[in-house]
Amino acid sequence: MMGFSPPSPHGILGSLLLPLLLFPVDATLECRPPGPVVPKPRHVDGYARLAAATDKLTNTLESALAGDIQAGWPVENTSFSIGLVIHDQEDKAVPVWEYHHLAPGNINGTQHISRDSQYLIGSISKVISDYILLRSGLDLDESIATFLPELADENSLIAWENITLRHLANQVAGIPPNYGFSEYYYLKDYFESLGFPHIGDDAYASCGIIALNGGCTREQFLKGMVESYPIAQPAERPVYSNIAFTLLMYAVQERTGKRYSELLETYVSGPLGLTNTIVSPGDDDKAVIPPVDNTWGSNYGDNAPGGGLVSSLSDLSIFVRGILDRSIFDSDTAVREWLKPTSSTGSLNSLVGTPWEIYRTQELTPDHPHVVDIYAKTGAAYGYQSRMAVIDEYGAGIVVLTAGSALAISPIYDAILTTLVPALDEIAREQAVDRGYAGMFVDGSTWSSSFASKNPNEDVDFNITVVQDKDSLVLQGIERNGTDILASLQEIWSVTIGAFLAVTPLKARIFPVDIRNEVLVPMSDDTAKRVIREDWRVEWDLASSGGTDLPGAGLSAGDCLGWALADWVYYGSEPLDRIVFVLDAESGEVIGLEIPYLRSGVLLPVKTL
Ligand SMILES: *[C@@H]1O[C@H](CO)[C@@H](O)[C@H](O)[C@H]1NC(C)=O
Ligand SMILES: *[C@@H]1O[C@H](CO)[C@@H](O)[C@H](O)[C@H]1NC(C)=O
Ligand SMILES: *[C@@H]1O[C@H](CO)[C@@H](O)[C@H](O)[C@H]1NC(C)=O
Ligand SMILES: *[C@@H]1O[C@H](CO)[C@@H](O)[C@H](O)[C@H]1NC(C)=O
Ligand SMILES: *[C@@H]1O[C@H](CO)[C@@H](O)[C@H](O)[C@H]1NC(C)=O
Repeated sequence: MMGFSPPSPHGILGSLLLPLLLFPVDATLECRPPGPVVPKPRHVDGYARLAAATDKLTNTLESALAGDIQAGWPVENTSFSIGLVIHDQEDKAVPVWEYHHLAPGNINGTQHISRDSQYLIGSISKVISDYILLRSGLDLDESIATFLPELADENSLIAWENITLRHLANQVAGIPPNYGFSEYYYLKDYFESLGFPHIGDDAYASCGIIALNGGCTREQFLKGMVESYPIAQPAERPVYSNIAFTLLMYAVQERTGKRYSELLETYVSGPLGLTNTIVSPGDDDKAVIPPVDNTWGSNYGDNAPGGGLVSSLSDLSIFVRGILDRSIFDSDTAVREWLKPTSSTGSLNSLVGTPWEIYRTQELTPDHPHVVDIYAKTGAAYGYQSRMAVIDEYGAGIVVLTAGSALAISPIYDAILTTLVPALDEIAREQAVDRGYAGMFVDGSTWSSSFASKNPNEDVDFNITVVQDKDSLVLQGIERNGTDILASLQEIWSVTIGAFLAVTPLKARIFPVDIRNEVLVPMSDDTAKRVIREDWRVEWDLASSGGTDLPGAGLSAGDCLGWALADWVYYGSEPLDRIVFVLDAESGEVIGLEIPYLRSGVLLPVKTL
């Protein structure tokens, strides 16, 4: 191959518009494909490594509660229920790890805290309301004014006709967070003492002002909406809004004729079997009620969709597990779509979704640094703080419910993430090796011909080596009848992709794709075996070629465009970056590897690597 000069890549290749890619050589996983680095860990309950991590977490929490270390919140007044949810945990309502603390100050409410204890979950309600919206089948791109004609008022400062259900669900409607609630009427004199001008009560809205007037009727509320200021243009930027969810549920109610509590039952509590997820007020006997100012027992009225639900660790465990195992919608695609960011914030690390608060961090797995995406929603009600998080990369979720001081939520949540996620990461990597993804694969299958990728009469030897380094699985060697195919791939790169991109492939990392096909393979003894063919794709570590004295050299190196390079080069209808692991459908163990572009057939693992 050396010195082979291909025809210049005009025509097809020349017409491809690809941005210039510059990759820093040392930044291994800086630009990996998003998603799991190795397959999500399975059946983690019972893993010593996880048990060690949860024991450590339990001990740490107990030290904090005992005052041996600084908790950071008043432990005598703050109760909590927390849990780790896993995509394949045996009982959906039972987290693989949970911990409950009933503070001595909690005189009222339950005296037997458990995963079924009820908490106000505040704005986690928004996740559930968005879920109702998504289930309702309404066209998200319709204007809210289509459902609520009162909003189509030409004098409105807010362009309601331009605001769609999707904008509201994604928190990019640019509308106010609240109506009425933002007024502190009871601090009126205090404001005045601090130099504010005197105003009469008639300066306030005619409803919804705590300590001045009653709650708003739907009519008053909608009238208020056409008198409110926009915060931003529709689809300009995320602006947090509680009332967006009131409006969304009004829209669903218009279409279905069902009230919010009925929608909750129809789309959520009923189908998922949730017994504690209800519109506040909840059940006093099951409630965790803190000895601080709190709104337990409140009627949130039409504000309930944005923050007025009651739930429990068991119910949120079922809900999160349904996201993780993709069962919460009728299709996997709908779940994957739900877990996508829809707008960005002013920070590199924070994105917004439907209505997820997405945090991207590289700090969680210091031994194997890479970006981990956390899809979370925080909730707050007076006396209650909560957080629910989906870490899909590991098929894991976290639920934190607290009642008492607002100081407790962050230290507890951060301690859970920091202690448990690295353990899940290690388990996933260990399992990748234990399940046989790493190893040597050679010719010898008696059933390879069933995949029609190999000429059974051809006399050719294969020897593939997959190893795991600190960062990921790596294709370390591909030998076909003594030829080093990895070296050939690097040569081929230089005359294909390399002809229009100034980057050189260094190391062939492989990452799983969520594409699995179950097939029955006839065996030589006339039996049939159920196997799963699982797609993986190669993504090379790339080095940028060339050097320059121009200013700004390397500036774009942080722009991850590796996703633009999948599936570009083919050999006889087979892409050069696709490999297929063959798994035993029952055990999930790797029983073979195919390199379709080499017509390898199924190569078998050599157990003695
Ligand atoms: C805890 O609650 C008790 C009783 O309500 C109160 O006296 C105390 O100040 C609270 N402690 C803290 C740290 O908030
Ligand atoms: C709202 O939609 C109308 C009609 O499509 C359009 O003329 C107007 O420019 C839009 N306004 C905003 C603020 O996008
Ligand atoms: C318990 O509830 C009663 C009745 O609502 C209330 O008066 C009392 O302050 C509460 N006590 C604590 C410690 O929360
Ligand atoms: C592979 O190598 C063997 C042994 O050197 C040889 O007999 C065979 O013809 C080769 N196969 C092909 C397809 O080149
Ligand atoms: C396969 O390749 C590995 C690593 O290059 C080597 O150690 C091993 O001996 C080879 N096995 C066969 C059967 O050729």
